[in-house]
Amino acid sequence: MLEPTLTRRTLIRAGASLAAGAVVLPHVSRGAHIAPRGGIRVGVIGCGGRGTGAAHDALHASPDTIITALGDAMPDRLAGCRANLEGNESFKGRVQVTDETCFHGLDAYQRVLAAPVDVVILATPPGFRPIHFAAAIDAGKHVFMEKPVAVDPAGVRTVLAAAARAREKKLNVVSGTQRRHEACYLAAMERIRDGAIGRVLGANVSWNQGGLWMHPRKPEWSDTEWQLRNWLYFTWLSGDHICEQHVHNIDAALWALGDDLPSRALGLGGREVRTSPDYGHVFDHFGVTFEYDDGRFIVSQCRQIDGCAGRVEEIIYGSEGSVHLSSGRAQIKGKNPWRWEDSQPSPYVAEHVDLIAGVTGGPYINEGERIARSTLVAIAGRESAYTGATLALDRVLNADLSLMPVSLELPGTLATPEVAVPGRTKLPPPIAAERS
Ligand SMILES: NC(=O)c1ccc[n+]([C@@H]2O[C@H](COP(=O)([O-])OP(=O)(O)OC[C@H]3O[C@@H](n4cnc5c(N)ncnc54)[C@H](O)[C@@H]3O)[C@@H](O)[C@H]2O)c1
Repeated sequence: MLEPTLTRRTLIRAGASLAAGAVVLPHVSRGAHIAPRGGIRVGVIGCGGRGTGAAHDALHASPDTIITALGDAMPDRLAGCRANLEGNESFKGRVQVTDETCFHGLDAYQRVLAAPVDVVILATPPGFRPIHFAAAIDAGKHVFMEKPVAVDPAGVRTVLAAAARAREKKLNVVSGTQRRHEACYLAAMERIRDGAIGRVLGANVSWNQGGLWMHPRKPEWSDTEWQLRNWLYFTWLSGDHICEQHVHNIDAALWALGDDLPSRALGLGGREVRTSPDYGHVFDHFGVTFEYDDGRFIVSQCRQIDGCAGRVEEIIYGSEGSVHLSSGRAQIKGKNPWRWEDSQPSPYVAEHVDLIAGVTGGPYINEGERIARSTLVAIAGRESAYTGATLALDRVLNADLSLMPVSLELPGTLATPEVAVPGRTKLPPPIAAERS
C-alpha cells in the first residue's frame, strides 16, 4: 500500500506544489514517542559501507540524532566505521561512542541492543537480518534495516512476525528501499494511482550491471571469515543478487501494482562467467516472470557480468501509457505525458527523516511487512531459477527452508554450498507437511 502521509511529507520536502508554510503534520497514529531532548540515540549493527553510510544519513536527517554504539563482526570494519564517523568535522559532538559502546564479534548485535540506543541501523549481510530485527524489536528499539530483510522463507516468516510485534509496540520500522522515499518515484506513483496510465497491466524491471567486489582469501581467514567477507557470493548470507540487489526493482514494481503479490514465479538463471570458487556458489544472471491470477505480470532481469549491456530501471505498463523510472528520473509516455524535472533531496536521507518523524511523535511508519513481502517475491524468483520449477508464492513462503548454518563461529569450518542445478535442485517441502 502507498503511504499517503509519507507521500505528502516527502513532496513537501521536495518543494513540490504545496504552499510554503502549509506544513501541518496530519493527525494519524503515533509511534512510541521519544523526546529529542538529549538526542535520539542511534546504534549501528554492521559497520561496513552501508552501515557507515546510513549513520551519515541518520546524522544528516535531524540535528537531534547522535551515534552512541557500533557493532560489527570484524574489528577492522568496526574501527574503520568509528574512524570515519569520528573524523568527520560536520558531525562534531554527535558521535558519542566510547570503547565501552563499540563491540565486535558475532554477538555484537546483542551488545549494541543492550547499550543506550533508541534506534538501530541493521546493515549486516541480509542473512542475519531476521535474527537481528527480531532481537531489536524484542529489545524495544526503532529500526532502520537495509534491504533485503531475509534470504530464505524461514527468515521471511521471522521478519513478518517481528514486524507485527513492532506494530503492537508502536515501534517504527523503515527499510532501505529508498525508492519508496524518493520524490520522483513518489510523484510518479501518485500519478499512476490517479489513473495517468489507465489500468496497470504489469512491469518490466531490471538490474543489469558488471561484476562487484571480491576479496581474495587470506591464509589467516577461516572458512567462516572468508564467507562473511565475501558475503555476496553465498546465498545463506546475501540471498543471491536477485535478492540482494534486484529486490529494489521488484519492490518498485510491486508498489506500482498496488503491493499485491503475484501468485507464482517462473525463473531461469545460471552461473555463466563468475565460475571460480572465489565467487562462492551464487548465479550471475536471472530472468523471472512473475504472474498474477488476473493476468498482470512482472518481467524481471538481473545480471552481474562484465562487458554486457547495463540497465537499472523499472517500466510500468498501463492500458493508456507507461511509466519509466530510475534513480532521479521519472517519465510517463502515452495519453498523459509527464516528466519529473525537479531536483530532489537524497532518498537515503529521506528514509531517516521519515523514520525520525515517526520516532519523535509524527506519523507512525512500519515498512517491515512490506519489505518482507518484496523479499519473498525475490526469493521465489531465485528458488524458481534454482529448481527449474514454477513456484507458487504461498508454497515458497511455507517452505521448510532455512539457509543459516546450524552453528556459526568466526574461526569455524564451513563448506561452500553446492551450486544449484535447475531440474535437480528441489525446494524443501512445506513446514506444515513435515509436521503432519
Ligand atoms: N539501499 C541500498 O541502496 C544499499 C546499498 C548497498 C548495500 N545495501 C545493503 O546493506 C547491507 C550491507 O551491505 P554493505 O554494502 O554495507 O556490505 P559491507 O560488506 O560493506 O558491510 C557489511 C558489514 O557487516 C558486518 N557483519 C557481517 N556479519 C555480521 C554479523 N553477524 N554481525 C555484525 N556485523 C556483521 C561485516 O563485517 C561488514 O562490516 C546489505 O543488506 C546490502 O544489501 C543497500
